[in-house]
Amino acid sequence: MKKPRVLLTGATGRLGSVILEDLSNIWDIIPLSRRGGGKTQKCDILLPGDRKALLEQEFDIVLNTAAASSPSLCADRPAESWILNTLWPREVAAYCRERAIRLINFSTDLVYSGGAPPYTAASPAVPLSFYGWTKLVADIFVLKADPDALIVRTSVLCGETGSNRTTFSEDLLSGRVSTVYVDSWRNHTPIHWLAGILPELAAKEQTGLVIASGKYSMSRSAYAEALLKRLGKSTDHLIMEYTPPGVPSRLHLRGDYSCEQ
Ligand SMILES: NC(=O)c1ccc[n+]([C@@H]2O[C@H](COP(=O)([O-])OP(=O)(O)OC[C@H]3O[C@@H](n4cnc5c(N)ncnc54)[C@H](OP(=O)(O)O)[C@@H]3O)[C@@H](O)[C@H]2O)c1
Repeated sequence: MKKPRVLLTGATGRLGSVILEDLSNIWDIIPLSRRGGGKTQKCDILLPGDRKALLEQEFDIVLNTAAASSPSLCADRPAESWILNTLWPREVAAYCRERAIRLINFSTDLVYSGGAPPYTAASPAVPLSFYGWTKLVADIFVLKADPDALIVRTSVLCGETGSNRTTFSEDLLSGRVSTVYVDSWRNHTPIHWLAGILPELAAKEQTGLVIASGKYSMSRSAYAEALLKRLGKSTDHLIMEYTPPGVPSRLHLRGDYSCEQ
């Protein structure tokens, strides 16, 4: 049987690189990235000509993982982040709607303020960061432009990837991150698990917004200690701090798809 042809943006990123690595056996993936690193085709979504060329390819499914994926990046480059995180998903959603192409776009738990956990997909969202707003408005735009699309909202991605960008767990293991917040609760999400449920989600009739994340909410510090201890590593270097103002702390999720690990 012919493999579904999947347009994958952000294929050099954390999630995109794992999707490319783990799912190329079942999908015929067209991998794209801004700089064209590794096996990916170069396509800068900020450039109208590149966006047009991208949509001229033939595909059955779009997985849009390209993003300005952090609050600091979005704060530094608001105009670019708005195009990439918000306007581009709306454009691709309208394109997919016209051609009955399945679209999966990704969202973040940082759309919530942390004021009234636990959060479900139906909870009101009021972001504290511009990043959160770019993603929340994208969620709304995408589902308006393509009610058959699926938004997968997730939390801190963890696990090994082939990407130059590192996950939280990789940062802890390499020592790049040593300051961890004792009161920042997140549903740390195994990245290979998330990639692994995408074929089922792409095939399903399900539309709208779902939360897919680690099942249990843990503080960043508890996660760090548990990870390092599990691997027989010292935790002496960890610096425990409180979450700074402007960062949501109680982001407990009640997911539609949960990983027990
Ligand atoms: N990381 C997390 O913990 C986390 C948590 C919750 C939700 N999410 C969401 O999950 C999705 C994937 O995040 P991620 O962490 O995997 O992202 P990431 O590691 O930051 O990767 C970003 C990807 O987007 C590409 N990109 C950046 N600017 C581009 C442009 N102008 N044109 C085309 N491509 C561009 C990058 O290509 P180059 O490598 O060539 O620059 C890279 O492949 C995002 O929607 C994010 O908001 C992530």
